[in-house]
Amino acid sequence: MKFTTRQFLKTAGLFGAGLLLAACGKKEPPPAPAAAAPASAAAPAPAPAKVYVVGTDAAYAPFESQNEKGEIVGFDIDVLKAAAAKADIEVKFVNTPWEGIFNALGQGDRDMVVSSVTITDERKQTMDFSTPYFDAVQLIAVKENSKVAKFDDLKKLKVGVQTGTTGDEAVTKLLGKTSTAIKRFESTPLALKELESGGVDAVVADNGVVIHYVANNPGSKFKTVADKSFAPEQYGVALKKGNAELLAKVNQGLADIKADGTYDKIFAQYFGAPPAAAAAPAPAASK
Ligand code: ARG
Repeated sequence: MKFTTRQFLKTAGLFGAGLLLAACGKKEPPPAPAAAAPASAAAPAPAPAKVYVVGTDAAYAPFESQNEKGEIVGFDIDVLKAAAAKADIEVKFVNTPWEGIFNALGQGDRDMVVSSVTITDERKQTMDFSTPYFDAVQLIAVKENSKVAKFDDLKKLKVGVQTGTTGDEAVTKLLGKTSTAIKRFESTPLALKELESGGVDAVVADNGVVIHYVANNPGSKFKTVADKSFAPEQYGVALKKGNAELLAKVNQGLADIKADGTYDKIFAQYFGAPPAAAAAPAPAASK
C-alpha cells in the first residue's frame, strides 16, 4: 500500500494522538483494563492438573505393549487416552507386572489399572470397575500338529497360563487346584514361548492376545482352538474401591468415545473391523 505524504502525516498524526492519549492516561489513576491485563497475564500458574497413574502390564499386545522407543502403546492405551481426554483428566501409563498390579492399586501406587482386566465378581469385591469396554473369551493355543480339539482335551496335558489371569482360573478349574500340570508364567508371551519350545502342550489366554501372537509369529507354528464352554468376559478399567468421582469421569469418557465414533475408530485400527462385526460390546447386537 502506497501512502501520499498527506495520508502519511494523517496516519502519523493519529498515531501521535494515540500516544498522547496513552501518555495522558498514565497520569490518571491506573484505568481498570490496565490493572486487569497484568493480573490475568501474570496470574500465578494454576495448580498443575492431577496426573492419574495408570498401571498396565505392557506385555500384552495388541492391548498394551512397549514399542522400540519404550513407549507404552496399544488398544487399551488408546481407549483410555481418548476417554480421559473427553473426561478432561490427565493420565500417565506405568508398566506394572501383572502379579502385584492389583496390590499396587489397593495401596494407591496406581490410580487405575488398564490391562485387559476382566471384570469378575471376585475382583469386584476388592476393586471397582468402569463400564465394560471390550468383549473377550479364552482361547487355546497349541502346535499346528496337536490333536487338541476342545478344552476338555487339555485334562491330561501340560498347560501354560499367565499367573492369576482368568485363563489361569479356567485351567485350574479343569485340572484341579493341586494339579502339577499347570505351568504358570509371569507373562502370556512367556507361556507362549514355552509352548514353542515344547515345555507345555497348550496355552490358555485371552483370544485377542493369542490371535495376535499366532499371526505375528508364524515361525511358532501354532493354531488356535476355540471352545464354547469358556465364559464370555469383558474388560473394564479397575479403580480402587470407593473412588466414585474418578469412576464417574472414566465412565463418562468411555460413554463419550462410544457415542461419537472414537471407540469404533480405535477398534477398527487394531482389529480391522468395527466391533459389531467382531465380538461386539453392543448389547442389542448379541444373539
Ligand atoms: N483378561 C485376563 C484377566 O483379567 C488377562 C489379563 C492380562 N493382562 C495383561 N496385561 N497381562 O485375568
